[in-house]
Amino acid sequence: MSTDAIVLLKNDHKEIRKLFTQFEKAGENAHAAKGKLVDRMIELLTQHTYIENEVMYPEVRRLLPDLEDDILESYEEHHVADVLVMELAALKPGDERFEAKTTVLIENVRHHMDEEEQDWFPKVREGLGRKTIQEIGAEMIKARTKAPRKPSQPSALKKTIDAVVS
Ligand SMILES: [Fe+2]
Ligand SMILES: [Fe+2]
Repeated sequence: MSTDAIVLLKNDHKEIRKLFTQFEKAGENAHAAKGKLVDRMIELLTQHTYIENEVMYPEVRRLLPDLEDDILESYEEHHVADVLVMELAALKPGDERFEAKTTVLIENVRHHMDEEEQDWFPKVREGLGRKTIQEIGAEMIKARTKAPRKPSQPSALKKTIDAVVS
């Protein structure tokens, strides 16, 4: 199995994008199906932003200082997603704001993933050697085993709070 960090993150993105499309295609009254899709989105996004925040972003920032602005913008975008995810976790399908909040989350995260894939992942590929990118990927695989799956878990909350106070 590849431990290439960019391949791993893009695989996550693909799975997340699939859930987004399924949500958009689900019928207006498909409350149960939409609830399940959102639960899965929350789980995947919580894990994914955790491994990026803990491993990918700090490593890239350290090794490629030119990408600092991209990384800082990405942290802020994660923070917006974290807040939306936390609020969404408290809603039930059928609640007045459930659909609207999910739609805004989808718009934000799509934009963010597009930027990662099109803007700065290629710069990482160019700037770091294959071996380094594989080492970062191996670290992310390790980090995933302790990653939170729910926004209410302490390590997920810490991430949201760090983004505000540090
Ligand atoms: Fe990200
Ligand atoms: Fe990502």
